[in-house]
Amino acid sequence: MLSKKHNAVILAHYYQDEFIQDIAHFIGDSLELSRKAAKTNADVIVFCGVHFMAETAKIISPDKKVIIPDLEAGCSLANECPEDEFRNFCSEHPDHFVISYINCSAAIKAQSDLICTSSNAVDLVRKIPKDMPILFAPDKNLGRWVEQQTGRKMTLWPGSCMVHETFNEEEILKLKIKYPKADVIAHPECTEVLLQYADFIGSTSKLLSYSKSSSSNEFIVLTEPGIIHQMEQNNPLKKFIPVPGNDGCNCNICPYMRLNTAEKVLKCLISLSPEIELEETIRIKALAPIMKMLSLSN
Ligand code: 13P
Ligand code: SF4
Repeated sequence: MLSKKHNAVILAHYYQDEFIQDIAHFIGDSLELSRKAAKTNADVIVFCGVHFMAETAKIISPDKKVIIPDLEAGCSLANECPEDEFRNFCSEHPDHFVISYINCSAAIKAQSDLICTSSNAVDLVRKIPKDMPILFAPDKNLGRWVEQQTGRKMTLWPGSCMVHETFNEEEILKLKIKYPKADVIAHPECTEVLLQYADFIGSTSKLLSYSKSSSSNEFIVLTEPGIIHQMEQNNPLKKFIPVPGNDGCNCNICPYMRLNTAEKVLKCLISLSPEIELEETIRIKALAPIMKMLSLSN
């Protein structure tokens, strides 16, 4: 196999296409993939996810070649938080401790004190001294949910995920009527209006483990439906129902994640490109808050 020839490890996020999940050596959420990138002995990391995830792997493992099937696989959260505007925002709040959700560019990470993922955001915010004001970026929905969980008010950057904002409230209500026994499980990137229907809220890996441990046999899934592949594999007798976006469109599918296709994975394994490149000064600055996250969430 090509990955063996190049001593490459294929990492995939749960929102990837089913085929990519099936050929990956490791599947995970943002935190698990960062940990894997920090520990692997491979020479090449094939990152089947979005750009900020592959960039995080490069920040952690500068001596490894990190390739991504499609360099255009971005993220609306990362796009909506430009470097200069964020610098101004931080300088307007000079005494604040800056926590950035991992869904942001290396340039934003480099301006942060701590990085978090949706798996560890609540725990990490609880570890910050109570008298220290916190600036949280770039997802206002995750930030608001963390505020509710911790009772801690934070200054929020006004970004959001284009996918988790599009789930249709009316469709959730219809599905709840159709499947009255189903648990509604949701990612914290959803809006407050949507989260009010959730029986369980968590990162992709937490939604997966909840779907295993819950005694319920039906789940209405309020996150990108790529994750349903693993849910079905782990629970062949349970039913998982995706929630459509507005107007029943396919906009519940992350257009960035799905830029990676089987064909592009094969091409990038053959050519070992496109490669993630990073300026060393930015990389070093971005590394510190990521390592802090990894050490605080061990
Ligand atoms: P997780 O860290 O929960 O996998 O989330 C990543 C993501 O991009 C959600 O939209
Ligand atoms: Fe970004 Fe949303 Fe896609 Fe996750 S689902 S990668 S937050 S655009």
